[in-house]
Amino acid sequence: MKESETAPACGTQPPATALRSLDELPGPRGLPVLGNALDLKPRSLHRLLAGWAEQFGPLFVFRVATTRILTVADADTIQQLLRDRPDHFRRWRKIEDIATDIGADGLFTAEGEKWRRQRKFVMHALNAGHVREFIPRFEEVAGRLRRRWWRAALSGTPFDALADLMRLTVDVTSGLAFGRDINTLEEKKDPIQIHLDKMFPAIARRQTALFPYWRYIQFAEDREVATAVKEVAKFIDRLITETRARLAENPELRDHPRNLLEALLAAQEKEDEGPSDREISANVMTMLLAGEDTTANTLAYMIHFMMEFPHVQSAVQEEVDTVFGMVEQPWQDPATADRLRYIEAFANEAMRCKPVGGHLFLEPNEDVQIRDVFVPAGTPILVLNGYVGTQEANFAQANEFRPERWLRAATDSAGAHNTKAFMPFGAGPRFCPGSKLAMLQIKMVTAMLCRDFEVVRPKDAQPLEDIYNFTVGPTSVYATLRPRRQIRGGIDIELRDGNRRTFTIPIVFPDRRVADRRKQSAASLN
Ligand code: HEM
Repeated sequence: MKESETAPACGTQPPATALRSLDELPGPRGLPVLGNALDLKPRSLHRLLAGWAEQFGPLFVFRVATTRILTVADADTIQQLLRDRPDHFRRWRKIEDIATDIGADGLFTAEGEKWRRQRKFVMHALNAGHVREFIPRFEEVAGRLRRRWWRAALSGTPFDALADLMRLTVDVTSGLAFGRDINTLEEKKDPIQIHLDKMFPAIARRQTALFPYWRYIQFAEDREVATAVKEVAKFIDRLITETRARLAENPELRDHPRNLLEALLAAQEKEDEGPSDREISANVMTMLLAGEDTTANTLAYMIHFMMEFPHVQSAVQEEVDTVFGMVEQPWQDPATADRLRYIEAFANEAMRCKPVGGHLFLEPNEDVQIRDVFVPAGTPILVLNGYVGTQEANFAQANEFRPERWLRAATDSAGAHNTKAFMPFGAGPRFCPGSKLAMLQIKMVTAMLCRDFEVVRPKDAQPLEDIYNFTVGPTSVYATLRPRRQIRGGIDIELRDGNRRTFTIPIVFPDRRVADRRKQSAASLN
């Protein structure tokens, strides 16, 4: 197709005449052969891209050697592109290649019929009903985190909340999606999560590489990744073997699978076109990766914001005290999550200000028109779905942290509030299937934390540092906890002495600290 002809139109569309070419778009100047390759430092990619978006506007191009990368920083256009999948747009082929090399070429990178088939399984396994049914087991997993945090509170020493949250999210994903309680929260030696943590940094590094060097030369980091891939593959094989044995012992599970892994294996046994072994293990890996950093980073940012803005923390405490009252097991009522409206607003604001999945990589399956630009098939397109939520045009006082903007009464008269520019979970047919599970984890952990503790920034805490690792997240979030409530009868805390004997101590809590600073004015993010 020539540029003068009409291509399938996507995005906001002026008449399809006189289309601009990619070369006519603004963008950062690069070096003659390398283009902007040397500017792309993987760990700070998010800052570089946001800066370019400020400078060059909603549509710009940068180059890595001869490859031109179209970058979209406009909410309407992004919505349109994301909704036009899988027919007109797919994920960037390079991401699929990188994911294949680490055994994670599951739903996230699948395309066409394969994607449709896998998506059905994953959506079913993570639907609202299954997430709700999982609450009692989730309470058990969260209980381990609670014990861990009580130990930290009693010792008074600062701890890295992010590290604990990474373990929690792996345990939750495995429990819900594979029916296996792997308990990395209490695992002392080499939990699987340590190996998983090598994968996203590797994807980020390889994404900006000029060619797939790791297939030819293995640097120390690549050797570590190779070991991690092997360890995770062994873990997944064991999981699959156990699940197959369970299906053989309980044939009725083939018709009524209780989780994603049982459903995939049952389909493999029953259907000629069922998923292959490779598809199944790649989807286990995909779920483990997709569910870990995203949710853990978001929760860690929320803890950071609670320390930064005590009035937000007070508002969360007030909501939890009101909704939970004296009830010790509030989650037995399935409607509890819906009542935590302030925490939901707080989570939305945290995801608006610190979107962890705010960079999506696509390419058109055929020549297309995006706004007034002709875009050839296969052109890498980077959509800044996170950046648009931080623009003043979309959210009034965008650089202020104001959870209240998400509560209806506040949004009626408070200036711009463009929910189309809020895409923490993506948009369209590939919208994140784990969003309900993520929101439940966010609510349960935040409520548990704020009911029991006041979160305080340690005196010598380092300033927050964000890094891009395919997702964006903090390097660490150190916090100190102070007990804040009296529990009738106390709480049992398990401790271990030097000889690893476990003993239990009942603890009576001090009165809650009264700290209603809610009326403080909204504080600036900076
Ligand atoms: C706060 C937590 C989370 C955030 C911010 C997040 C964000 C995202 C985003 C931005 C996408 C891309 C959507 C698109 O292309 O339009 C995505 C896809 C995906 N997410 Fe999540 N996610 C979170 C939690 C989870 C969890 C807990 C799981 C599962 C356990 C999960 C599984 C997936 C999968 C499998 C995909 C690929 C979907 C597809 O391509 O069809 N995510 N997520």
